[in-house]
This record gives sequence, C-alpha cells and structure tokens, in this order.
Amino acid sequence: MAETKTATKKAPAKKTSVKKVKTTAVKSVANNTAEKKKILFVASESTPFIATGGLAEVIGSLSKALASTGKFDVRVVIPLYSDIKKEYRDKFSYLGNLYVHLAWRNQYCGIFTYEQDGVTFYFIDNEFYFKRPGCYGYFDDGERFAFFSRSVLEIMPFLNFYPDVMHCHDWQAALASIYLKTNYCFREEYQYIRSLFTIHNIEYQGQYSLDLLCDLFDIYGEYRYFVEYNNSINLMKGAIECSERFSTVSPRYAQEIKDPYFAHGLDPIIRNNAFKLTGILNGIDDLSYNSELDKHLFANFTADDFSNKQVCKSELQKMLNLPVKPDTPIISMVSRLVSHKGLDLVTNVIEELLHDDVQIVILGTGDSHFEGYFIDLARRYPDKMSANIVFNGDLSRKIYSGSDIFLMPSKSEPCGLSQMIACRYGTVPVVRETGGLYDSIKPLVNGYTFSNYNAHDMLYVIRQAVENYKNKTEWKKLMYRAATTDFSWNHSAKEYEALYFDMLK
Ligand code: GLC
Repeated sequence: MAETKTATKKAPAKKTSVKKVKTTAVKSVANNTAEKKKILFVASESTPFIATGGLAEVIGSLSKALASTGKFDVRVVIPLYSDIKKEYRDKFSYLGNLYVHLAWRNQYCGIFTYEQDGVTFYFIDNEFYFKRPGCYGYFDDGERFAFFSRSVLEIMPFLNFYPDVMHCHDWQAALASIYLKTNYCFREEYQYIRSLFTIHNIEYQGQYSLDLLCDLFDIYGEYRYFVEYNNSINLMKGAIECSERFSTVSPRYAQEIKDPYFAHGLDPIIRNNAFKLTGILNGIDDLSYNSELDKHLFANFTADDFSNKQVCKSELQKMLNLPVKPDTPIISMVSRLVSHKGLDLVTNVIEELLHDDVQIVILGTGDSHFEGYFIDLARRYPDKMSANIVFNGDLSRKIYSGSDIFLMPSKSEPCGLSQMIACRYGTVPVVRETGGLYDSIKPLVNGYTFSNYNAHDMLYVIRQAVENYKNKTEWKKLMYRAATTDFSWNHSAKEYEALYFDMLK
C-alpha cells in the first residue's frame, strides 16, 4: 500500500486491522516537541478548510496563535467533510485507518493530516457520515458527531498522541469530553488528559431523546446523570459536567449565561458549575484582516492615512448600484439574518432611518422573512439601500472596508467577531451592550453602544453617529482609535495559556 494518499481518493472499502502507515513520522514529531504541552482542539469546523461561522475562525486563528508561542504542540481534529475544497484535500496525507465502536456500530475511520502555521490538523474520514453538502442540519447529526467524538479518543493510540489538554468546542465536540470521563480516563494512557469545554453559542446544545442514550450514544448506568436534563439528553450539559473546566468566549457572556434570559434553559447548570467557568474574549487573525495588505479591498490603506478608504467606499457604491456620494455615510451589516442578531430592532426603525441622508448595505443569509423584507426594501429605496442575500467572504471585506458605520445590535452575542473586523478597517461599530460586544466596544473610544434592546434607543445612537460623522476631524480620530484597538490574539492567547497551565498544576 502506498505511503501517502490524498484525501480526494476513495478510502479502502473494508479493513479490519489498524494500519500504522506513518507511525515513525508521528513519533518523531512527538519527540521533537516533548518539552511542549500538548493541546488537542476538537471542533466541528476550522478555517481555512471549512467554515460556517465564527467558531471556525476561532479554531483556525487561536490554534495558530498558541502554536506561535513555542510553548505548545497544538493539534486540531475536525471531520473530513466533502465540502473541504479540493485545493486543500489534495495536500492532505493519509495516515491510516481503524474501526470505531459505538454501541452496536463498528465504523470505518480514516485519518488524514496536514500541517499549517505550526499546527497539525487531523481530519476524520467516513464518507457515510461526512460526504454530504454542508456541515450540519441532518436528521442524524447526533450520530455523526458521536462517531466523530468517539473517533477523537480512538485515534490517540494510533497517533501515539495523548494531549495534556483536550479542548472541545461546542456541542458537536461535547461527547469527546463525556467519553473521556465515562469510558477512557480509567485507562493508563488517558488518565492524565485534562478536558476544557468552550461554549461558543449556548443556543445549540445537542438535545436528543433519552431513548437514544444506550443505542446511539453508548452511555450506560450511572453516567446517565451527566447528560440527562429536562427529560432529554443534553450534550452541552454533559460536557459542562464532565470537563475539568469550561469557558465561554467573552467575560460578559460568562456572567450572562448564569441568567435565564441568555442561557436557553441551561442557567441552573451554569450556576452550579460556575466555580470552573472562565470567560476569555476571542481575538481575530489580524494578519488576515489587515487593511494594508488585504487583497480583497478595492484599495489598501492604514490607520495613519485613510485616504484610500474613500476609494473603497466609492467603488463599493458603484458595485452595489448606489449613488456615489462621498459625504453620505454608509451603514452596513454583515450578519446572519436571524432574530437574535437584532434584526427585529432593525426592521422596526429602518424606514425611519432611510429618510435621513444615509445609505444602508446588508450582507447575509438567514430566515426567509428577513431576507424577503430586505429585498423588498432595496426595491423600494434603490438609491439608499442594498440587500445582498448571499454568504460571500470577498464582498464582506469590501463592505467592511467601504462603509463608515457598522451596525451590530444583537440581542445576545457570545463574542462576535464582525465588530472587531469592522474596526480593523476603520469602520465605526454601533453595537448593543451584550456579551463580547460589551467587552470589545467602548462608547466614543472605538464605537457607539446602547444598552436596552429597544429599536428607538438603537436609532437614537445611530443618528448620534451619523451626526458626529459630519465632523471630519473628530470622526477621523474615532476611526483611528477603532482601527488601532488591539483585537489580535496576543492578549487572549495568554489567558488560554494561563488557563491550560492552571489545569495542569
Ligand atoms: C459563535 C458566536 C459568536 C462568536 C463565535 C466564535 O458564532 O455566536 O458570538 O464570536 O461563536 O466564538
């Protein structure tokens, strides 16, 4: 059998024994990095391979930031979805395969690998589960991610890699920490693995009928207590119970989720486990979101010289068929079009706002009634409103850089990355004071904020920003402060570092 294969090649149909094609290479990596603490991220998506939202950006950029400290051997494991682009798949190396048991199932698990920016990525291959468009939304998502999580623990002996900290993210990886506690930590090699569970969004908890407990999730007897909640299985609850520590993606959200308003029913569990909860604000990849280097922009600029931002603005206006008006502020939103992003507030007052001298640009997809509403509005106000109902990374950067004010009025926001990205392009955010928005945007320092979830409170603050925009000297200072706020991982990666070392004491 060949030493390496690419991930686009079909995996062997039937194999019963464990193949150790590249164990020597794997071992030598382990030896070189013997001094470093071993961190394994378990997640359902990661940039640059596959992304449906902020989770992927955090996995991709935090792992890189931690590796660059030189203190950690950082590895990431995600499923090998068929949507991972061929340009990447062709570069992956095939390490081997094994069979993973889960209740009565016995499933093929191929392992591919790729190294980038000092981080080793592993991809779990099983075409039955992952050769489908997109990442989520299938009737058997519970089974797919149970298989994935079980595979994470099963590949450890094969890779000869037992992490010091297994860092699991969101409900899709929750079972990895549950299985560690229930099935694996009694085995010698696994006994020193500490687990950290990070909540990126408490709205999605992985809830299933209790009927599936043994048959699907392979959880028996006294362990039922970990995952049982309100008469169902709740995987996020299970991971909170089973992990040594858990965290969320901003300090404010860590406080908020103790309250029923934010916790989607999990607040008693959060409060009971609050002694092991930390909130660490996400960072962004400041090399990727860099107005000086970003190739997607119409023109590049720096915080010391914003003159080319005008080019970005006028080209954007042309591209979106809006009148080219340098002095009319463009207010933009790049967002999933769902209610908790504050869309109810926006739809309430947007027509009032459209009577002012402003242009409004929306980019995103989501609930069909919001999509339809904005499309209709753009038809009725063609000179003032542009609705782009797509998910488009290139256009998003053109909008971030070409607009003046960025609106993010979320009802709840665990962290939010868009407000930070907008800042990087000198676009001043208007945000509601919740979660990471509260932690990252300070009124009149680098943006505008309002506190109550109230449409006219929001409108009042937007109008204040539009008014201040007319004072070019003051506005430039505000743009400068926004663009130079440090949203890199420098600070937050140190907080994770401290948390890992604390867990390993
Ligand atoms: C989720 C949250 C978002 C956060 C992101 C990364 O998408 O909704 O607020 O920024 O995860 O942690």
